[in-house]
Amino acid sequence: MKKLNSLILNGTVKFLDFIYSGRSLQRFWVLEVIARSPYFAFLSVLHFKESLGIKNEKTMILMKEHFYQAINETEHLKEMEKRGGDRFWIDRFFARHLVLVYYWIMVFYYFISPANAYDVNIKIEEHAFETYSKYLIDNPNDQKIKEIAQDELNHVQELNEALSMLTTV
Ligand SMILES: [Fe+2]
Ligand SMILES: [Fe+2]
Repeated sequence: MKKLNSLILNGTVKFLDFIYSGRSLQRFWVLEVIARSPYFAFLSVLHFKESLGIKNEKTMILMKEHFYQAINETEHLKEMEKRGGDRFWIDRFFARHLVLVYYWIMVFYYFISPANAYDVNIKIEEHAFETYSKYLIDNPNDQKIKEIAQDELNHVQELNEALSMLTTV
């Protein structure tokens, strides 16, 4: 299953990199729109399961963590909007349709297999970190992007911790 996750993600990432080559700001904005949705999806499922009485002592910890990550990704999105990443209609159209599909995929995926959903999101966060790192090679003085890249790396670590929490329940 993890190989399938990688295969689908690599294909999607290559496609995004291709259509957004030379348009870093727009690519960052689209990535940040998408990056938020898994955390909303995780929260939705945890909340729903908790309401049905399906919970354990890790549920609250995960909910807090994913809420904080969703807020952090929203801050990233706001920064990209401040820079004009959402200026064009076509990018807004593309991102908002993509996120609609992606959110529901992640809801079902996390409901069925939290470990696999975390695996997908770890790969996405790693890709986000690589994308910002590449940009920083040409723009080493962009302090804000440096901070955002570090946030993405922190998300990778936090998701790995969440993953290990699942396996120790
Ligand atoms: Fe982000
Ligand atoms: Fe992130």
